Amino acid sequence: MGVEIRVEGLRKSFGRQVIWEDVTFTIPAGEISALLGPSGTGKSVFLKNLVGLLRPDRGHVFVGGGDVPRLRENDLYELRRKFGVLFQDGALFGSMNIYDNIAFPLREHTRKGEAEIRRIVLEKMEMVGLSGPRGNCPARSPAG
Ligand SMILES: Nc1ncnc2c1ncn2[C@@H]1O[C@H](COP(=O)(O)OP(=O)(O)O)[C@@H](O)[C@H]1O
Ligand SMILES: [Mg+2]
Repeated sequence: MGVEIRVEGLRKSFGRQVIWEDVTFTIPAGEISALLGPSGTGKSVFLKNLVGLLRPDRGHVFVGGGDVPRLRENDLYELRRKFGVLFQDGALFGSMNIYDNIAFPLREHTRKGEAEIRRIVLEKMEMVGLSGPRGNCPARSPAG
């Protein structure tokens, strides 16, 4: 269903360059919203404030209750599990194959065993036409 995002009085600047000034609005839960604008106008800076990668000079960013700029580090990590970020350019771990890239968040953030992780990873690869004998996955699931 998703969570509501409410931004109140957000200001963000870099030195003397003010990117966002007094931004207040609500992004409703359970809907698809888009932020449009020419290059360099502040879309990425805005999103980074939403996920806590940048801190606003002023204002609040409530994501499902918590005020992101004021969350303790542990709570911020917890909150970030709700986000998915797809980068403009590729953002895979170059040192890992595609299987391990997909398995990474499951290994980091869940207690799932390797057998279940393997099932999920192969399912995701199948969904996007990346399954097949390409030497990208472990031949059989390690114990776990
Ligand atoms: N870390 C930073 N330090 C200084 N200026 C930045 C930083 N990040 C972005 N900017 C500036 O903020 C403005 C908005 O950038 P950005 O949010 O990346 O635009 P876009 O809408 O294309 O995503 C640009 O002028 C950019 O140069
Ligand atoms: Mg951008």
